[in-house]
Amino acid sequence: MYTWQLMLVASFLALETGLSHRSTQDMSMLQYYDRRIAHLEDRLTKYDQTIQAYEQKLYDLSKEMRSHMDRLNVYKLELRNQVDSIAMRMDRAERDIEYLENNSPSQPHVDIDDRILERQVKDALQETRRKLNLKTDCSAIMTSVKSLKIVKKAGDVQGAWLRDPSKGSTKVYFFSGTSNSTMLEFTSLQAFTEDNYFQAARKVYLPFPWQGTGHAVNNGFVYYHKAGTANEIVKVHIRNQTASDTMLLQGAGRLPAYSLMPQTFIQLAVDELGLWAIHADPDFGGKLVVTKLDRTRLEVEHTWDTPCKSKDAEVAFLVCGTLHVVYNTPYSGRSSVQCLFDIHDTIHSREMLPIFFPKRYTSHSSMHYHPKDKQIYAWDDGYQTIYKVDTRRKNTS
Ligand SMILES: *[C@@H]1O[C@H](CO)[C@@H](O)[C@H](O)[C@H]1NC(C)=O
Ligand SMILES: *[C@@H]1O[C@H](CO)[C@@H](O)[C@H](O)[C@H]1NC(C)=O
Repeated sequence: MYTWQLMLVASFLALETGLSHRSTQDMSMLQYYDRRIAHLEDRLTKYDQTIQAYEQKLYDLSKEMRSHMDRLNVYKLELRNQVDSIAMRMDRAERDIEYLENNSPSQPHVDIDDRILERQVKDALQETRRKLNLKTDCSAIMTSVKSLKIVKKAGDVQGAWLRDPSKGSTKVYFFSGTSNSTMLEFTSLQAFTEDNYFQAARKVYLPFPWQGTGHAVNNGFVYYHKAGTANEIVKVHIRNQTASDTMLLQGAGRLPAYSLMPQTFIQLAVDELGLWAIHADPDFGGKLVVTKLDRTRLEVEHTWDTPCKSKDAEVAFLVCGTLHVVYNTPYSGRSSVQCLFDIHDTIHSREMLPIFFPKRYTSHSSMHYHPKDKQIYAWDDGYQTIYKVDTRRKNTS
């Protein structure tokens, strides 16, 4: 960079030695050039410093840019997640509109709010109320499906989910698929609705695999049809994962309980009166048989033959000792209760039926009635939904 200056200095030196006789005029010329050179050098140093400062600035700027880019990537990711969740909600909303367009005779109110936080407070209130009139409690009869709540889409297309209806329990149980040895336990409905529900769950490894979608949970015990057997029901203590009882349900296991849900041979159900088993009997025209079980000792208390067919049945549950059988078409139409059987023989079903469910997805693989909160926990084509039912008192004339 300084080569031209050096050359200049060298030539002046040559001039000085070679032409020493030169006048003082020349000397002052030399001094003048000296000053110019010093001045130029000064400026060069300054340029150098300026360039260094620019380089530093450029470096800082690129560093800042990089950090901006990083932040931008985070925003992008967040945005994509939001778009995904909006797309999911849109999908649900579209299905709602589709349903509303299809119109139902009873027009149940459809509510797609995911979070049900106030539920637990209400539960506590209802429980106190119910405790005061336990005797009259079971005169309730289901009249319609009041509302539908879509809680989640998790697990397989088929499965079951339910809550322990025993006093003080908020636990939710989740059985994905139609056979497995694992079930998931959640401390509350809210824990289940979380996005990271699978990590939040307690995995309960049962001593025997379960089969179908007709499991029941009561008071910390799970009751289920043992896979690989025709008609064995087991009762397992959930906390310590040990079998506490087992029984054979006579006549069960030869025909699916519901022709539209062929993996379920035994349906267990809990209502206001206790534990029940439902199965279809081929010796009885494929009609459903209801058995009241003693839930402590796991023994049969009584059995009733019902007029309800298993053909085109999808699922069934009991409300106050009345069997409600839900039918559909093999092509996934609209689910409705079309057969009732009251063990007390006080309901005249013709005036009440059918009771329609709002049409949502394609078909139900399970429904579990919760006697305390009067809700049905259903699995509709991979969606976990809650139906709230309307009840009125039985005419016990
Ligand atoms: C059993 O359930 C667990 C947990 O939900 C799941 O990871 C596993 O794939 C299931 N197994 C089968 C055979 O479906
Ligand atoms: C499992 O639970 C049952 C019922 O509460 C209890 O009797 C039993 O002692 C428990 N077993 C173990 C190993 O904790």
